[in-house]
Amino acid sequence: MQHTVDFNDRMLSLGLARVSEAAAMASADLVGRGDEKAADQAAVNAMREQLNKLDIAGVVVIGEGERDEAPMLYIGEEVGTGSGPAVDIALDPLEGTTLTAKDMPNALTVIAMAPRGTLLHAPDVYMDKLAIGPGYPTDVVSLDMTPAERVNALAAARGCAPSAITVCVLERPRHQDMIDELRGTGAAIRLITDGDVAGVIHCAEAHLTGIDMYMGSGGAPEGVLAASALKCMGGQMWGRLLFRNDDERGRATKAGITDFDKIYTRDEMVTNDVIFAATGVTDGSILQGIKREPTHLTTETILMRSKTGSVRRMIYRNPINR
Ligand code: FBP
Repeated sequence: MQHTVDFNDRMLSLGLARVSEAAAMASADLVGRGDEKAADQAAVNAMREQLNKLDIAGVVVIGEGERDEAPMLYIGEEVGTGSGPAVDIALDPLEGTTLTAKDMPNALTVIAMAPRGTLLHAPDVYMDKLAIGPGYPTDVVSLDMTPAERVNALAAARGCAPSAITVCVLERPRHQDMIDELRGTGAAIRLITDGDVAGVIHCAEAHLTGIDMYMGSGGAPEGVLAASALKCMGGQMWGRLLFRNDDERGRATKAGITDFDKIYTRDEMVTNDVIFAATGVTDGSILQGIKREPTHLTTETILMRSKTGSVRRMIYRNPINR
């Protein structure tokens, strides 16, 4: 069937906020309960139910996994009522399952929507990521530079000492050499235990978060979500897929990727207008987490459109059991 309905991002965006809100509210009772799987499942169920109410002909391109490993919101699943614009959906119903289970900062529900065929179909492999906020010359840093060169180039562009730069990095043994090299420049490092979508978003609001640059490897699907957010907020991002074995290369081939060494810019990961919504599950530096009262749940959602660069923060207080 041919879909000719325009991608009306303005109208669709409020619906998208409802989807991320619903996923966050569904995981509310599972914050701090030590059960990653249950929290994720609750968010997946709620996100899928709300998504299917939207008047879109959606296809999940970044989702919970391949069809044989994820029964819901799998890659290729059609979502929405089917009557509306043809769109790509990238989602992570719970970005930071461990953060949620342990009630640690910055767990989010995340979803992005763009016209069909415009989001990179990133396979579930790692991606080497580099991101900075708005206001810098194009390509001032690159994935081909060493970590120290990136700090020095960013400091030179900002007219400050390398010691005035703060870099956000996922705390992983695989990043130890990079961390040591960054320390050698004098830069500060904000280590996070999980949640690199939030890590990248931090760069877009450096004046609030204190983070100037994000670097390191994490999930490729999360890379596309982060690129969607940065396209709305401003900022540059680069990503290169990392393959550990033939199975992962096979996943990339299945997703239509032919150049395994390519460095994707933000706009090559997200080639057209995109809308992005994220709701806080646990308190964080970008969003407040869910607040529970005996009678109500309150959430905070960030809703953004790349076409306008608009960023909306929405507080939603909803009665329970009505
Ligand atoms: P989950 O929510 O699926 O647990 O992912 C959290 C996360 O920290 C991502 O933000 C990040 O991209 C990825 O895991 C890093 O993977 P790994 O834990 O294997 O280093």
